[in-house]
Amino acid sequence: MACAQTGSGKTAAFLLPILQQLMADGVAASRFSEIQEPEAVIVAPTRELINQIFLEARKFAFGTCVRPVVVYGGVSTQHQIREISRGCNVLCGTPGRLLDVIERGKVGLSKVRYLVLDEADRMLDMGFEPDMRRLVASPGMPSKESRQTLMFSATYPEDIQRMAADFLKTDYLFLAVGVVGGACSDVEQTLMQVTKFSKREQLLDLLRTTGTSLASSSNLDREQRERELALADFRSGKCPILVATSVAARGLDIPDVQHVVNFDLPNNIDEYVHRIGRTGRCGNTGRAVSFYDPDTDNQLARALVTILSQAQQEVPSWLEEGAFSGHGSSSFSTPRHKTFASTDSRKVTACLVCISDVFLCAFCGSQTVLCPQGQHPGSFQDNAVKNQPPAPAAADEEDWE
Ligand SMILES: Nc1ncnc2c1ncn2[C@@H]1O[C@H](COP(=O)(O)OP(=O)(O)OP(=O)(O)O)[C@@H](O)[C@H]1O
Ligand SMILES: [Mg+2]
Repeated sequence: MACAQTGSGKTAAFLLPILQQLMADGVAASRFSEIQEPEAVIVAPTRELINQIFLEARKFAFGTCVRPVVVYGGVSTQHQIREISRGCNVLCGTPGRLLDVIERGKVGLSKVRYLVLDEADRMLDMGFEPDMRRLVASPGMPSKESRQTLMFSATYPEDIQRMAADFLKTDYLFLAVGVVGGACSDVEQTLMQVTKFSKREQLLDLLRTTGTSLASSSNLDREQRERELALADFRSGKCPILVATSVAARGLDIPDVQHVVNFDLPNNIDEYVHRIGRTGRCGNTGRAVSFYDPDTDNQLARALVTILSQAQQEVPSWLEEGAFSGHGSSSFSTPRHKTFASTDSRKVTACLVCISDVFLCAFCGSQTVLCPQGQHPGSFQDNAVKNQPPAPAAADEEDWE
């Protein structure tokens, strides 16, 4: 179970060791077999994200005998099944379509050595948990003790961590780089107090000052083809503004995104962390501007204060007042200025990352099996503070995939 801030390179952190190991073991795709038996299965919550992961895997595996394939909803199943039958070592999929190809008998699971859940907390929340349980209970899937299950995210609410243990080996490692659930420190966060009537004009002002004019939209009412086209136009710079629902909140890695605007704030702080993490990636800086309407967003006030202060961002005085006046977040009792970010719920004291057999301490950087410094300040040992309660499922839950 690994946690590192948005844009820090978690995709390569699981793809490279898996591909390297498969190559070292001489794995090669068996062409034109009716049933394919991949060695690795990777799942992610949205079509756009799984496609991005697949493209990374294909890039890293280029010129080798290891063949990645992707399956996701909204496009022809037959085409994807044909792709699988041409050979499949690394199967990337969104849960629904993945289960579909497995249940049609096109994919056997008995050779699975690696099962990766990207955006793992999302994959195990109310929306996807049943699918994940179905996946690990599918015929042929090796038991959790005989496969390696890997989970990656920038956020891990504690309740999800506890559930994750059902999928991981008993003695799994919890690796945290930085503050679990913390916002990327390269993003400059600004909150603007607005009313629902002034938002539109304020957005237009903001766009005027950033000098952008074209927009493309990617939302769930659109056909998959249109969604992908919108994203491609944004990636290429043809459309410099992408208007998106939460479907674009997690994982998408688009170079040169300078601004994220939260026109409506999400109702969950983890989602905020993921959304603003679409900018300021890979060591670049970025800006996130969020419209805060006290009538609707007060329940997020305390969590925002914590996130902003952890990332050394300026906390507006009106936000602090809202957070600690007794009106905001009454159901959520985080002490002022204390982190509520989740920690390893088992209080593990070692911090390890394995990259091609080299163990690196995530905090002091030493190459070791166990970090000699033991507990690191600001790391994940403080288990006293609770994460915020789980947010209700999004209204568009069933459309996420
Ligand atoms: N070692 C590296 N050197 C330079 N760039 C890297 C390195 N590792 C990853 N990157 C790049 O960093 C960017 C962010 O990586 P990635 O999408 O894997 O982040 P992430 O941690 O998964 O973020 P998120 O939590 O938003 O999903 C990608 O463009 C990736 O190619
Ligand atoms: Mg990612």
